[in-house]
Amino acid sequence: MAALHIDRLVAVIGSGAMGAGIAQVAAVAGYTVRLYDTRADAVAKAISDIAAAFNKLVAKGRMDAVDCAAAIARLQAAVTPADVADAGLVVEAIVENLEAKRGLFAQLETIVADDCILATNTSSISVTAIGAGLRVPGRLVGMHFFNPVPLMALCEVVSGLATDAAVAQTVYDTAAAWGKNAVHAKSTPGFIVNRLARPFYAEGWRLLNEQAADAATIDAVMREAGGFRMGPFELMDLIGHDVNFAVTQSVFNAYFGDPRFTPSVQQQELVNAGFLGRKAGRGVYRYGDAPAAGVSGAGHADAGQPAEKVEKAEKAEKAEKAETPPVGGAAWAFCEAPQAKPEYVSYTTEQGTASQAVGGALADSLAARLRAAGIAISHRTMPETFRHAGPHDDAPAFHCNGAAVYLTDGRSATQRARDNNHQDTVLFDLALDYGSARRIAIARSDQCSMAAYDAVVGLLQAASFVVTRLDDLPGMAVMRTVAMLANEAADAVNQGVCSAAAADIAMQKGVNYPRGPLAWADAVGIEHIVRVLGNLAASYGEERYRVSPLLRRKQASEGRFHE
Ligand code: NAI
Repeated sequence: MAALHIDRLVAVIGSGAMGAGIAQVAAVAGYTVRLYDTRADAVAKAISDIAAAFNKLVAKGRMDAVDCAAAIARLQAAVTPADVADAGLVVEAIVENLEAKRGLFAQLETIVADDCILATNTSSISVTAIGAGLRVPGRLVGMHFFNPVPLMALCEVVSGLATDAAVAQTVYDTAAAWGKNAVHAKSTPGFIVNRLARPFYAEGWRLLNEQAADAATIDAVMREAGGFRMGPFELMDLIGHDVNFAVTQSVFNAYFGDPRFTPSVQQQELVNAGFLGRKAGRGVYRYGDAPAAGVSGAGHADAGQPAEKVEKAEKAEKAEKAETPPVGGAAWAFCEAPQAKPEYVSYTTEQGTASQAVGGALADSLAARLRAAGIAISHRTMPETFRHAGPHDDAPAFHCNGAAVYLTDGRSATQRARDNNHQDTVLFDLALDYGSARRIAIARSDQCSMAAYDAVVGLLQAASFVVTRLDDLPGMAVMRTVAMLANEAADAVNQGVCSAAAADIAMQKGVNYPRGPLAWADAVGIEHIVRVLGNLAASYGEERYRVSPLLRRKQASEGRFHE
């Protein structure tokens, strides 16, 4: 199988934002592109906008002047649909309406040759439904680009029930020839990205709704601990709440009201108010001169300048000497701090260090950072109280001034303090990389003494973390979001929507996630992700947080998504 032959014409129908972008990437790749739109001025505008974009690239030295002239010369206007008769591939990017798309493709079938591939850029309509009724339904395939097309590297190649596999492969290879990361997907609601990304927004809304922190703080944690380019609220403000809410509703409805996809009442209120985000001057945040912030709890003083909450640095000075833990039980490690520095204790169980039990390499990189900050480590024996508290040993990642400090496992700190019969319990959230993360989020149990809590804050500040306290919600922010992203990705793979590799590429290239959700589950440990989800389900119910059967299967086989 090979990409569409370079000599064959590419037609783009609909010359709005997406059509123009698609024409641009095809022209750069050397294809002759003919654009059509029911509004003739849209075609002229698209071609002149693309030429202007090329000329800018030449001015910046990122495109050769000769190549620029040649690419512009490859862009042609079609005056009537009949002008695309010799196309080898037609990409449709008209209005998002099933009847309009069906009507267009029915008309095109009377114009183009039988071997011409018909592709739709729909983002939410079933490719199967668009292709139904065509004379040659096997040649209709989804070719889903992301906005702005020249910058976004992903193209989902979406097969409907009737799509010919050879057609999908030709479109896949063609997208690759146009410089895109192509992934195959089965036509199901949201395809890959628009489905798998739902928990990123949904968990954000839930955290805000339950007052884990204000929006600016949650955004900062997701960015600076989670490594996401933008937090959920600033991203939704950018996308537009009308658009984001409509996609959520469309996926929810398409899955017959599956509670996992339930839209947010808070976001609906933003839409009701016309607080649509940046474009409206006001969304979760306010921009420019707009008055007060749109969502209760999201407020911050400076327009467009989210001010997140941070634990104050003086907490570092409050750190006290670590308590000597009781001796007995399995061996554990105790970190003897240099004078005047906060102390760090890590535990050893019979299975190895406790950090291996709570996220392996992730927690080890946190320990390495603490060590690099001059916090010495010595070894002690893990007290009996932390052993066999539940089905597993619940060994803290470390122990500081009496506080047992754990990576969140989906229980609240308060619950965990009770389960382990240890009041001074502090949790830390997942980070993409504890070695380099600017920020770390922590939560304290309701029973935790301020002295013990302050010591933990001081310890983390001594290792140069900006420390943010989230209210004590199950699963915290990054862990809860990543666990749900991985759960959704696992479901999509389990249902044959896409491969594990495609799921991860799609989320990295389509929405710029710092790591694919399944690779992230591998890094945290499938066992831990399943535990987080199970504990979330215990708090919030099985409907939304039920564990994907594929995650359970990987857990049982001790497998990974990527070897
Ligand atoms: P747009 O509104 O910017 O452009 C659509 C163009 O199609 C308009 O110029 C309109 O005059 C033209 N048009 C409408 N009906 C037509 C017909 N029957 N024949 C020829 N031209 C017709 O819309 P946009 O944003 O470019 O979206 C186009 C398609 O791409 C939609 O299906 C949308 O869901 C999909 N899409 C949009 C994304 C986005 O972020 N805007 C992302 C991915 C997919």
